[in-house]
Amino acid sequence: MPAVSTGDFEHRTVLLDATLDQLAVRPGGRYLDGTLGGGGHAAAILARSAPDGRLVGIDRDPHAIAAACARLAAFGSRFVPLRGRFGDMEGLASGLGPFDGLVLDLGVSSPQLDQARRGFSFRLDGPVDMRMDVDQPRTAADLLDSLDEPALVDILRRYGEEPRARRIARAILAGRPWTSTRALADCIALASGYRNSRTHPATRSFQAIRIATNDELGELERGLDGAERLLAPSGRLAVISFHSLEDRLVKHRFRALAGVGAPKDAYGQPLQPAQWALVTRKGIAGRLADPDNPRARSARLRVIERLDPG
Ligand SMILES: C[S@@+](CC[C@H](N)C(=O)[O-])C[C@H]1O[C@@H](n2cnc3c(N)ncnc32)[C@H](O)[C@@H]1O
Repeated sequence: MPAVSTGDFEHRTVLLDATLDQLAVRPGGRYLDGTLGGGGHAAAILARSAPDGRLVGIDRDPHAIAAACARLAAFGSRFVPLRGRFGDMEGLASGLGPFDGLVLDLGVSSPQLDQARRGFSFRLDGPVDMRMDVDQPRTAADLLDSLDEPALVDILRRYGEEPRARRIARAILAGRPWTSTRALADCIALASGYRNSRTHPATRSFQAIRIATNDELGELERGLDGAERLLAPSGRLAVISFHSLEDRLVKHRFRALAGVGAPKDAYGQPLQPAQWALVTRKGIAGRLADPDNPRARSARLRVIERLDPG
Protein backbone atom coordinates (compact mmCIF):
# COMPACT_ATOMS: atom_id res chain seq x y z
CA MET A 1 0.00 0.00 0.00
CA PRO A 2 1.37 3.47 -0.84
CA ALA A 3 1.97 5.98 1.90
CA VAL A 4 -1.10 8.02 2.74
CA SER A 5 -0.73 11.78 2.64
CA THR A 6 -3.29 14.00 4.30
CA GLY A 7 -1.90 17.53 4.50
CA ASP A 8 1.46 17.11 6.22
CA PHE A 9 0.47 13.68 7.59
CA GLU A 10 2.17 10.92 5.64
CA HIS A 11 2.29 7.39 7.02
CA ARG A 12 2.81 4.01 5.37
CA THR A 13 0.59 1.40 7.00
CA VAL A 14 2.31 -1.78 8.18
CA LEU A 15 1.02 -5.36 7.62
CA LEU A 16 -2.27 -4.11 6.21
CA ASP A 17 -3.44 -7.20 4.31
CA ALA A 18 -2.28 -9.62 6.98
CA THR A 19 -4.08 -7.63 9.68
CA LEU A 20 -7.35 -7.51 7.75
CA ASP A 21 -7.20 -11.21 6.88
CA GLN A 22 -6.34 -12.31 10.41
CA LEU A 23 -9.06 -10.09 11.90
CA ALA A 24 -11.54 -11.73 9.50
CA VAL A 25 -13.15 -8.35 8.78
CA ARG A 26 -16.71 -8.81 7.45
CA PRO A 27 -19.62 -6.65 6.31
CA GLY A 28 -21.69 -5.35 9.21
CA GLY A 29 -18.95 -5.97 11.82
CA ARG A 30 -18.07 -3.57 14.63
CA TYR A 31 -14.41 -2.63 14.96
CA LEU A 32 -12.18 -0.56 17.20
CA ASP A 33 -8.81 0.85 16.10
CA GLY A 34 -6.97 2.01 19.23
CA THR A 35 -4.09 3.56 17.24
CA LEU A 36 -5.88 5.42 14.48
CA GLY A 37 -2.82 7.37 13.23
CA GLY A 38 -3.31 8.34 9.59
CA GLY A 39 -6.33 6.01 9.34
CA GLY A 40 -4.64 3.39 7.12
CA HIS A 41 -5.93 0.30 8.91
CA ALA A 42 -9.21 2.08 9.66
CA ALA A 43 -9.90 2.96 6.00
CA ALA A 44 -9.28 -0.61 4.90
CA ILE A 45 -11.46 -2.06 7.67
CA LEU A 46 -14.28 0.33 6.81
CA ALA A 47 -13.99 -0.56 3.12
CA ARG A 48 -13.99 -4.30 3.77
CA SER A 49 -16.87 -4.11 6.27
CA ALA A 50 -19.10 -2.12 3.86
CA PRO A 51 -21.91 -1.35 3.54
CA ASP A 52 -22.76 -1.15 7.22
CA GLY A 53 -19.68 -2.04 9.28
CA ARG A 54 -18.70 0.54 11.89
CA LEU A 55 -15.35 1.59 13.29
CA VAL A 56 -14.42 3.53 16.41
CA GLY A 57 -10.96 5.11 16.05
CA ILE A 58 -8.92 6.26 19.05
CA ASP A 59 -5.70 8.29 19.08
CA ARG A 60 -4.11 10.49 21.69
CA ASP A 61 -2.50 12.74 19.08
CA PRO A 62 -4.88 15.47 17.92
CA HIS A 63 -2.95 15.83 14.62
CA ALA A 64 -3.58 12.14 13.89
CA ILE A 65 -7.29 12.51 14.70
CA ALA A 66 -7.55 15.50 12.33
CA ALA A 67 -5.74 13.68 9.50
CA ALA A 68 -7.83 10.52 9.96
CA CYS A 69 -11.10 12.48 10.05
CA ALA A 70 -10.20 14.14 6.75
CA ARG A 71 -9.30 10.79 5.18
CA LEU A 72 -12.32 8.89 6.51
CA ALA A 73 -14.98 11.58 6.00
CA ALA A 74 -16.51 9.63 3.11
CA PHE A 75 -17.51 6.83 5.50
CA GLY A 76 -19.90 9.22 7.28
CA SER A 77 -21.39 7.99 10.55
CA ARG A 78 -19.85 4.52 10.11
CA PHE A 79 -16.66 6.08 11.53
CA VAL A 80 -16.54 7.48 15.09
CA PRO A 81 -13.28 9.28 16.08
CA LEU A 82 -12.36 9.57 19.75
CA ARG A 83 -9.39 11.41 21.16
CA GLY A 84 -7.74 9.76 24.13
CA ARG A 85 -5.53 6.88 25.24
CA PHE A 86 -6.30 3.33 24.24
CA GLY A 87 -5.53 2.39 27.85
CA ASP A 88 -8.85 4.08 28.63
CA MET A 89 -10.73 2.42 25.74
CA GLU A 90 -13.43 0.94 27.92
CA GLY A 91 -14.49 4.35 29.20
CA LEU A 92 -13.97 6.11 25.85
CA ALA A 93 -15.95 3.58 23.83
CA SER A 94 -18.57 2.89 26.47
CA GLY A 95 -21.89 2.07 24.82
CA LEU A 96 -20.26 1.52 21.39
CA GLY A 97 -19.13 -2.12 21.84
CA PRO A 98 -18.79 -5.02 22.04
CA PHE A 99 -16.49 -5.29 19.04
CA ASP A 100 -15.87 -8.04 16.49
CA GLY A 101 -12.32 -6.87 15.91
CA LEU A 102 -9.83 -4.65 17.63
CA VAL A 103 -6.46 -3.46 16.33
CA LEU A 104 -3.44 -1.90 18.07
CA ASP A 105 -0.63 -0.81 15.74
CA LEU A 106 1.81 0.31 18.44
CA GLY A 107 4.45 2.99 18.58
CA VAL A 108 4.79 6.23 16.70
CA SER A 109 3.59 7.25 13.26
CA SER A 110 5.89 8.55 10.53
CA PRO A 111 4.70 12.17 10.96
CA GLN A 112 5.47 12.03 14.66
CA LEU A 113 8.96 10.69 13.90
CA ASP A 114 9.69 12.82 10.88
CA GLN A 115 8.56 16.23 12.10
CA ALA A 116 11.47 17.82 13.94
CA ARG A 117 9.19 19.91 16.14
CA ARG A 118 7.69 16.76 17.71
CA GLY A 119 11.11 15.99 19.18
CA PHE A 120 11.19 12.20 18.55
CA SER A 121 14.07 12.18 16.08
CA PHE A 122 17.79 11.96 16.78
CA ARG A 123 18.46 12.81 13.12
CA LEU A 124 16.53 16.09 13.02
CA ASP A 125 16.98 18.96 15.42
CA GLY A 126 14.00 19.86 17.56
CA PRO A 127 12.89 20.35 21.15
CA VAL A 128 13.29 17.33 23.48
CA ASP A 129 9.54 16.75 23.51
CA MET A 130 8.49 13.21 22.38
CA ARG A 131 4.87 13.52 23.57
CA MET A 132 2.34 11.70 21.39
CA ASP A 133 -0.36 13.75 23.11
CA VAL A 134 0.78 17.35 22.68
CA ASP A 135 -1.42 18.40 25.63
CA GLN A 136 0.26 16.00 28.04
CA PRO A 137 2.02 18.23 30.60
CA ARG A 138 5.35 16.36 30.89
CA THR A 139 7.78 16.36 27.95
CA ALA A 140 10.86 14.18 27.58
CA ALA A 141 12.99 17.16 28.68
CA ASP A 142 10.87 17.48 31.86
CA LEU A 143 11.32 13.76 32.49
CA LEU A 144 15.12 13.98 32.09
CA ASP A 145 15.17 17.01 34.44
CA SER A 146 13.34 15.08 37.15
CA LEU A 147 15.35 11.82 37.22
CA ASP A 148 18.28 10.76 39.37
CA GLU A 149 20.99 8.46 38.06
CA PRO A 150 19.54 5.09 39.18
CA ALA A 151 16.13 5.97 37.74
CA LEU A 152 17.59 7.02 34.38
CA VAL A 153 19.83 3.93 34.22
CA ASP A 154 16.75 1.80 34.91
CA ILE A 155 14.79 3.45 32.06
CA LEU A 156 17.69 3.04 29.58
CA ARG A 157 18.17 -0.62 30.55
CA ARG A 158 14.54 -1.59 30.83
CA TYR A 159 13.02 0.22 27.86
CA GLY A 160 16.08 0.51 25.62
CA GLU A 161 17.92 -2.70 26.58
CA GLU A 162 20.98 -0.42 26.46
CA PRO A 163 24.11 -2.24 27.72
CA ARG A 164 26.01 1.04 28.28
CA ALA A 165 23.22 2.63 30.29
CA ARG A 166 25.29 3.88 33.21
CA ARG A 167 27.81 5.91 31.26
CA ILE A 168 25.08 7.32 29.00
CA ALA A 169 22.92 8.26 32.01
CA ARG A 170 25.83 10.10 33.66
CA ALA A 171 26.48 12.12 30.50
CA ILE A 172 22.79 12.97 30.07
CA LEU A 173 22.49 14.12 33.69
CA ALA A 174 25.65 16.23 33.42
CA GLY A 175 24.35 17.97 30.29
CA ARG A 176 20.94 19.07 31.66
CA PRO A 177 18.77 20.95 30.85
CA TRP A 178 18.17 19.49 27.36
CA THR A 179 16.62 21.70 24.69
CA SER A 180 17.83 20.08 21.45
CA THR A 181 17.38 16.50 20.20
CA ARG A 182 20.52 16.78 18.08
CA ALA A 183 22.61 17.87 21.08
CA LEU A 184 21.13 15.03 23.17
CA ALA A 185 21.86 12.49 20.42
CA ASP A 186 25.46 13.76 20.06
CA CYS A 187 25.98 13.54 23.83
CA ILE A 188 24.68 9.95 23.89
CA ALA A 189 26.80 8.97 20.88
CA LEU A 190 29.94 10.35 22.51
CA ALA A 191 29.25 8.82 25.92
CA SER A 192 28.32 5.40 24.53
CA GLY A 193 31.58 5.00 22.66
CA TYR A 194 29.82 2.93 19.97
CA ARG A 195 31.70 3.05 16.71
CA ASN A 196 30.78 1.54 13.36
CA SER A 197 27.42 0.30 14.66
CA ARG A 198 24.75 -0.33 12.03
CA THR A 199 22.23 1.83 13.89
CA HIS A 200 22.72 5.32 15.29
CA PRO A 201 24.31 5.04 18.76
CA ALA A 202 21.38 6.97 20.29
CA THR A 203 18.68 4.64 18.88
CA ARG A 204 18.17 2.57 22.03
CA SER A 205 18.35 5.54 24.41
CA PHE A 206 15.84 7.58 22.37
CA GLN A 207 13.48 4.60 22.29
CA ALA A 208 13.78 4.25 26.07
CA ILE A 209 13.15 7.94 26.77
CA ARG A 210 10.15 7.95 24.39
CA ILE A 211 8.62 4.85 26.00
CA ALA A 212 9.00 6.37 29.46
CA THR A 213 7.67 9.80 28.41
CA ASN A 214 4.50 8.24 26.97
CA ASP A 215 4.20 5.35 29.49
CA GLU A 216 3.89 3.07 26.47
CA LEU A 217 4.16 -0.27 28.27
CA GLY A 218 1.66 0.79 30.95
CA GLU A 219 -0.70 1.82 28.16
CA LEU A 220 -0.23 -1.53 26.45
CA GLU A 221 -1.07 -3.45 29.67
CA ARG A 222 -4.19 -1.34 30.21
CA GLY A 223 -5.13 -1.55 26.53
CA LEU A 224 -4.93 -5.35 26.57
CA ASP A 225 -7.12 -5.41 29.72
CA GLY A 226 -9.70 -3.20 28.01
CA ALA A 227 -9.59 -5.17 24.76
CA GLU A 228 -10.25 -8.44 26.61
CA ARG A 229 -13.42 -6.98 28.05
CA LEU A 230 -14.63 -5.22 24.90
CA LEU A 231 -14.37 -8.14 22.46
CA ALA A 232 -17.56 -9.95 21.44
CA PRO A 233 -17.64 -13.78 21.28
CA SER A 234 -15.66 -14.85 18.16
CA GLY A 235 -14.10 -11.36 18.20
CA ARG A 236 -10.40 -11.01 17.38
CA LEU A 237 -7.65 -8.76 18.73
CA ALA A 238 -4.68 -7.92 16.48
CA VAL A 239 -1.56 -6.27 17.91
CA ILE A 240 1.39 -5.07 15.83
CA SER A 241 4.51 -4.42 17.89
CA PHE A 242 7.81 -2.93 16.85
CA HIS A 243 10.29 -4.04 19.48
CA SER A 244 10.91 -7.05 21.65
CA LEU A 245 9.62 -5.47 24.88
CA GLU A 246 6.16 -4.90 23.42
CA ASP A 247 6.12 -8.20 21.59
CA ARG A 248 7.14 -10.15 24.70
CA LEU A 249 4.34 -8.54 26.69
CA VAL A 250 1.74 -9.33 24.01
CA LYS A 251 3.03 -12.88 23.50
CA HIS A 252 2.88 -13.71 27.22
CA ARG A 253 -0.57 -12.18 27.67
CA PHE A 254 -1.96 -14.05 24.64
CA ARG A 255 -0.43 -17.39 25.71
CA ALA A 256 -1.82 -16.98 29.24
CA LEU A 257 -5.30 -16.19 27.87
CA ALA A 258 -5.20 -19.18 25.54
CA GLY A 259 -4.09 -21.45 28.39
CA VAL A 260 -0.75 -22.37 26.80
CA GLY A 261 1.17 -24.27 29.48
CA ALA A 262 -1.92 -24.56 31.72
CA PRO A 263 -2.40 -27.78 33.74
CA LYS A 264 -3.87 -30.76 31.85
CA ASP A 265 -5.62 -33.94 32.97
CA ALA A 266 -4.35 -37.49 32.46
CA TYR A 267 -5.74 -37.47 28.89
CA GLY A 268 -3.87 -34.28 27.99
CA GLN A 269 -7.03 -32.17 28.08
CA PRO A 270 -6.93 -28.76 29.81
CA LEU A 271 -8.47 -28.77 33.32
CA GLN A 272 -10.24 -25.49 32.50
CA PRO A 273 -11.90 -25.11 29.08
CA ALA A 274 -10.06 -22.43 27.08
CA GLN A 275 -11.95 -19.20 26.43
CA TRP A 276 -9.41 -17.85 23.96
CA ALA A 277 -7.45 -19.31 21.05
CA LEU A 278 -4.25 -18.14 19.40
CA VAL A 279 -4.95 -17.28 15.76
CA THR A 280 -1.26 -16.77 14.98
CA ARG A 281 0.84 -19.23 16.99
CA LYS A 282 4.19 -17.52 16.51
CA GLY A 283 3.04 -14.20 15.15
CA ILE A 284 3.58 -12.89 11.63
CA ALA A 285 6.89 -11.15 10.91
CA GLY A 286 6.60 -7.87 9.03
CA ARG A 287 9.82 -8.45 7.11
CA LEU A 288 8.27 -11.58 5.55
CA ALA A 289 4.62 -10.55 5.14
CA ASP A 290 5.25 -6.92 4.14
CA PRO A 291 8.76 -7.07 2.63
CA ASP A 292 8.57 -3.89 0.55
CA ASN A 293 7.69 -1.69 3.50
CA PRO A 294 10.75 -0.47 5.43
CA ARG A 295 8.54 0.44 8.41
CA ALA A 296 7.55 -3.25 8.71
CA ARG A 297 11.13 -4.50 9.15
CA SER A 298 10.91 -5.01 12.91
CA ALA A 299 7.12 -5.42 13.12
CA ARG A 300 5.34 -8.54 14.40
CA LEU A 301 1.59 -9.15 14.25
CA ARG A 302 -0.11 -11.37 16.85
CA VAL A 303 -3.80 -12.21 16.85
CA ILE A 304 -6.04 -13.91 19.41
CA GLU A 305 -9.75 -14.85 19.32
CA ARG A 306 -12.31 -14.93 22.11
CA LEU A 307 -14.04 -18.28 21.70
CA ASP A 308 -17.81 -18.34 21.46
CA PRO A 309 -19.07 -20.40 24.43
CA GLY A 310 -22.46 -20.90 22.72
C1 LIG B 1 1.92 3.40 14.13
S1 LIG B 1 0.75 4.68 14.27
C2 LIG B 1 -0.75 3.96 13.66
C3 LIG B 1 -0.90 4.05 12.19
C4 LIG B 1 -2.21 3.57 11.65
N1 LIG B 1 -2.45 2.17 11.94
C5 LIG B 1 -2.27 3.79 10.14
O1 LIG B 1 -2.29 2.80 9.40
O2 LIG B 1 -2.31 4.93 9.70
C6 LIG B 1 0.45 4.71 15.97
C7 LIG B 1 -0.54 5.76 16.42
O3 LIG B 1 -1.01 5.36 17.69
C8 LIG B 1 -1.08 6.47 18.54
N2 LIG B 1 -0.90 5.96 19.90
C9 LIG B 1 0.18 5.34 20.41
N3 LIG B 1 -0.05 4.99 21.68
C10 LIG B 1 -1.32 5.39 21.96
C11 LIG B 1 -2.15 5.29 23.11
N4 LIG B 1 -1.71 4.72 24.23
N5 LIG B 1 -3.40 5.77 23.04
C12 LIG B 1 -3.87 6.35 21.89
N6 LIG B 1 -3.12 6.49 20.79
C13 LIG B 1 -1.86 6.01 20.81
C14 LIG B 1 0.03 7.39 18.09
O4 LIG B 1 -0.29 8.72 18.43
C15 LIG B 1 0.02 7.15 16.58
O5 LIG B 1 -0.81 8.08 15.92
